[in-house]
Amino acid sequence: MREYKVTCRITVYQMDELSAADRELVNAACEATKSSYAPYSHFRVGAAARLSDGTIFAGSNQEAAAFPSGMCAERTVLYAAQAQHPDKKVVALAIAAQTGGHFLDDPITPCGACRQVILEAEDRGKCDIRILLHGTKGIHVIGNARELLPLHFTSDNLK
Ligand code: THU
Repeated sequence: MREYKVTCRITVYQMDELSAADRELVNAACEATKSSYAPYSHFRVGAAARLSDGTIFAGSNQEAAAFPSGMCAERTVLYAAQAQHPDKKVVALAIAAQTGGHFLDDPITPCGACRQVILEAEDRGKCDIRILLHGTKGIHVIGNARELLPLHFTSDNLK
């Protein structure tokens, strides 16, 4: 028998401990919650991707009466960024959420489907995507998508 354990390293920062660029990205994710269309869950999620040329691409979750048709903020942003800037890598992704008019104290982490899509973007760009998760009590930073999604399935498995 053999046993192993997978771990995820998370570093928690206060907003004023982040670099100006990271603070800007987190603020863009917070701002993007305003464009959320979440009449069913009332859970407003914003995401902001930093592209390799420094530009920020932001978006939010979009729901539909046929619930499975909705889309999380993370995938909304990554798919739009890749569709409009296929030549640019995503180097960082910030996520923020609010409900009842208040940002969450503790961050949410991306759902399983979004983790898989973040990993795909990371593999495609051959560049770590740093993930910044906003909470009012702190910003949780994870170094890359592989750290966020251990035991992942990737294109390597298809070879
Ligand atoms: N949601 C996101 O946009 N991102 C996440 O990481 C978790 C959940 C959205 C999906 C749905 O519109 C609402 O939040 C409630 O699940």
